[in-house]
Amino acid sequence: MPDLHDTSPQSRRIAAIALGKRGGEGSVAALRAALETEEVGWVRPSMILALGRIGGDEARAALAEIEARSESEAEALRKARDRVSGPATGFGWRAVTNVFASVPVGLEDVAIAEAREHGIEATVVRRGTIALSKRPAALRCIYDVRILIAEGAAGAFAETVRKAEVRWREWITSASDILPYRFSLENARITKQEFNDLLRLARETFSLQGLTDSPSSYAAMLRVEADDGATRIWLVPTFESDERFTYRVADVGASINPVVGACLARLVRRGDEGLVVDPTCGSGTLLIERAMLDRGTMLAGIDISPTAIRAAVGNVIAAGLAARIAARQGDGGDPITWPDRCEEVLANLPFGLRTEDRNLDGLYRRIVGNIARTLAPGGRALLYTAHAKTLVALLRRTTKVKVTEERRVESGGLQVGVWILERR
Ligand SMILES: C[S@@+](CC[C@H](N)C(=O)[O-])C[C@H]1O[C@@H](n2cnc3c(N)ncnc32)[C@H](O)[C@@H]1O
Repeated sequence: MPDLHDTSPQSRRIAAIALGKRGGEGSVAALRAALETEEVGWVRPSMILALGRIGGDEARAALAEIEARSESEAEALRKARDRVSGPATGFGWRAVTNVFASVPVGLEDVAIAEAREHGIEATVVRRGTIALSKRPAALRCIYDVRILIAEGAAGAFAETVRKAEVRWREWITSASDILPYRFSLENARITKQEFNDLLRLARETFSLQGLTDSPSSYAAMLRVEADDGATRIWLVPTFESDERFTYRVADVGASINPVVGACLARLVRRGDEGLVVDPTCGSGTLLIERAMLDRGTMLAGIDISPTAIRAAVGNVIAAGLAARIAARQGDGGDPITWPDRCEEVLANLPFGLRTEDRNLDGLYRRIVGNIARTLAPGGRALLYTAHAKTLVALLRRTTKVKVTEERRVESGGLQVGVWILERR
């Protein structure tokens, strides 16, 4: 077993790493004592990081006493102190106007319509981004609320950081005078060295503005986003916990993103009552989002997988909607599992990536047949799938329903098609 006082620096470094992983009684005192005598520049950072990994009050106190002797030690110290600091608390919003929101690509209009219903003026800025006249509360069709800090030319990351001005005190209330942030660079391919240089520049620039880089415990993200035509820096506050989708206590593979789900529920909505069916309901996200829109609806979910149904039932109970949503195991292609008549159908169909039904074409044909048979006149169905070819061919041949709208949505790096059908 390597020792913190071994004659070999490499062994002392390995001992520190192992102790950091193991922790336990006496570990902080041992590392503290070792740091008092350790002189090797590449061993000390491992000892400091080990203290951060052990965590707790004793480690925090030990880290507070250390003075960095080199740049790598300062970096280790920063990481370790960040790790032992508690969660970022005590932050709140001031009344903010002119914010932006990121939204699912292809569903910007749906997010705008929701914002307008809440009395907020909203416009599309570009794919995946909308502008809002004030900070919204409780919108389900947006991913996040963000403030634009700086805009520069495509690829001009350093220049854009240099001119960024984060007037965070105008937007955020804080018990302390420092805003801890997490830095990220999105959609850009640069070398590790280039990234580290950019991070260093960001730290220098933003520390003068009362912000501190604190990747484990932060109240906001500072995101540098690379687009085709521009570089943008966003402040994305994260101090407010997102309670919108906490009903998702159980998950299944291929669950739909709930923000996308909230948008689709709005797209299929044709009235404030009636029966809504999801024949491949998975964990029930679409049903729950649709139920939340209108109290007058009743909803039925079908899924072939017992695990999915267990997840859906758990989520429906957590959402407090058990009186209106029933989820049952069955084959969504089998007419017997469907009601005789329904007003809406909402389905995130299996894409063929991990379905239990290998015969996707057959399943799609049977589901479209069930829609054509049960959808009430004036009723509406929404089908969401990346397996477009089969569906398009099928819909061309179907006479009882007509396609009234088609769109492409981006979610989780996938291009997914949305088809809206109505009874002829
Ligand atoms: C893309 S997932 C739906 C996910 C769901 N929207 C959610 O958020 O959890 C497709 C679902 O179809 C189900 N499925 C596959 N074949 C089926 C069939 N023949 N009948 C009903 N459900 C089926 C799978 O078990 C899976 O849960």
